[in-house]
Amino acid sequence: MPISLRPYTADDLPLLPGGDSPYDDWGPKQRREVPGSDLDGSGGLVIVDDDGSVLGDLSWHYVHWGPNAGSHNPMIGVWLRPEARGRGVGTQAQAALVDLFFRHTNVNRVEAHTDVENIAEQRSLAKAGFAAEGVVRGAQWRDGAFRDGYLYSILRTDPRD
Ligand SMILES: CC(C)(COP(=O)(O)OP(=O)(O)OC[C@H]1O[C@@H](n2cnc3c(N)ncnc32)[C@H](O)[C@@H]1OP(=O)(O)O)[C@@H](O)C(=O)NCCC(=O)NCCS
Repeated sequence: MPISLRPYTADDLPLLPGGDSPYDDWGPKQRREVPGSDLDGSGGLVIVDDDGSVLGDLSWHYVHWGPNAGSHNPMIGVWLRPEARGRGVGTQAQAALVDLFFRHTNVNRVEAHTDVENIAEQRSLAKAGFAAEGVVRGAQWRDGAFRDGYLYSILRTDPRD
């Protein structure tokens, strides 16, 4: 299925509640503001299929490995509507976002992080060209416990399809 990414509109917000998966359960939340799509700051994009229907969304924020601009890189996240899962959309969407960062910013690295039990996202990231770098212990608080996750990255010089 060909997918594309586009900026949010206010009409998208009710279609993108998130929170239904144990790996996206951050407690009650209601998004009232339309996220921006600036690749140089925090933001997000909507994932749509070829008939324009909304499949899910991507988000990112910058993490800092040092004080200069060359040591900052985006950390991405993804959520798909339940009916869109398990057919390769997550892989395509995350690969497409990586492509946007490498074409339109000068970051050297894009990161992602997922729970040690989230096999679907681990597979999806690996198929999108990300490499697992190690376990990040107890960094996420979800559903009453601190959770371990794997840190993933893809570098500008890594092979991509
Ligand atoms: C995680 C998510 C983004 C993955 O996207 P997706 O489109 O469903 O994933 P894909 O179809 O690209 O790939 C899924 C892969 O995981 C595999 N998989 C899925 N569930 C699995 C399980 N329980 N055990 C083993 N493998 C599993 C699939 O077989 C597939 O691998 P394959 O292509 O080698 O067969 C999507 O399922 C989702 O939005 N989940 C809920 C929110 C979430 O977890 N977000 C990420 C938070 S870090």
